[in-house]
Amino acid sequence: MANETAISTANDTARNIGPVILLGPPGAGKGTQSKQIVDRYGVPQISTGDLLRDHVARGTSLGLEAQAIMARGELVPDELMYGIVANRLREADCQRGFVLDGFPRTAAQAGWLDAFLEEEVFDKRSEHSAPCLPVVIQLLVDYTQLLLRLTGRRSCPTCGRLYNIHFQPPLVDELCDVDGSKLVIRNDDREDVISGRLDAYETQTRLVTDYYRAQRRLVAVNADRPVDEITAQIFGVIDRHRQNGCDPMNGEARIK
Ligand code: AP5
Repeated sequence: MANETAISTANDTARNIGPVILLGPPGAGKGTQSKQIVDRYGVPQISTGDLLRDHVARGTSLGLEAQAIMARGELVPDELMYGIVANRLREADCQRGFVLDGFPRTAAQAGWLDAFLEEEVFDKRSEHSAPCLPVVIQLLVDYTQLLLRLTGRRSCPTCGRLYNIHFQPPLVDELCDVDGSKLVIRNDDREDVISGRLDAYETQTRLVTDYYRAQRRLVAVNADRPVDEITAQIFGVIDRHRQNGCDPMNGEARIK
C-alpha cells in the first residue's frame, strides 16, 4: 500500500498538468488550495499578490508604485502586471504546468494570458513543455464566510504557512506550529481595506469568470467546505482534465 502511494505520488509529480487557474474573491482559499496542488503535482504556485508583496518588500520601482494601490485594496494596473507574470512564466519550473493564484483579475489580463500562452507556450511546445489548455477553477464562497476568513487570517513570516484564528488556529496562540515564528497579519486584511478588495472583485474580476464561462472553460467548485474536501474535488477536476486530453470541452465541467 505504501509502495502504491509512493508510485502514485511519483507519477503525479512527473506529469504535465498544464496551467491551472484558480479564480475566486479575496479569502476564497486560492492560496490554501494552490499549496495543495503544488504538493501533489510538483508544479509552482504563481501568486501575483506574493510577487507584488516581494517587490514592495525589496523597494523596487514597481513595488513603490504598487504599494499605495494595494494598501487601498485596488487592483494594480494591468500594464504593470504583464511584465512580472511573463517573466515568471518563462522560468524553467513552469514547463510541466503551474498554478495561477490571483491572475488573471481583469478581462484584459485574461485576454493577455491567452495570447501569451499561445505565443510562448503552446507554439513552442516540446516534450518538456506544458501541452495542456488551462483548466479554470472558480471557488465559490459565501460573503460572511469570506469576512471571517480574511479577518482571521494569520501567516508565518518564515515558512509561509497559513492559519486562521477561527478555523485553523495554531497549536500555541499566535505562534507557527512548524518553526515557532510569531504569526503576522497582512496589511490589507484590515476591515476598511477588505471592503475595497471585495468591491474590486465584484466590479472587475467577475468579468474574468464571464470570459471563461463564455469559452466553456469554467469549473465551479463549492469552496464553503472543509479544506480537504475542496482539495479532493480540485484534484478530481485536474485529473479528469488530463484524462480528457487537457481539453475542457471534453470534460464534465460544471458550467455555472
Ligand atoms: P492577493 O494576494 O492575490 O489577495 P486576494 O486575491 O485578495 O486573495 P487572498 O490572498 O486574500 O485570499 P485567498 O483566496 O488566497 O485565500 P487564502 O487561501 O489565503 O492580492 C493582494 C493585492 O495585490 C490585490 O488586492 C491587488 O492590489 C494586488 N494584485 C494581486 N494580483 C493582481 C492582479 N492580477 N492584478 C492587479 N492587482 C493584483 O485563505 C484565506 C484565509 O481563509 C486563511 O486564513 C485560510 O487559512 C482560511 N481558509 C482557506 N480555506 C478555508 C476553508 N475551506 N475553510 C476555512 N478556512 C479556510
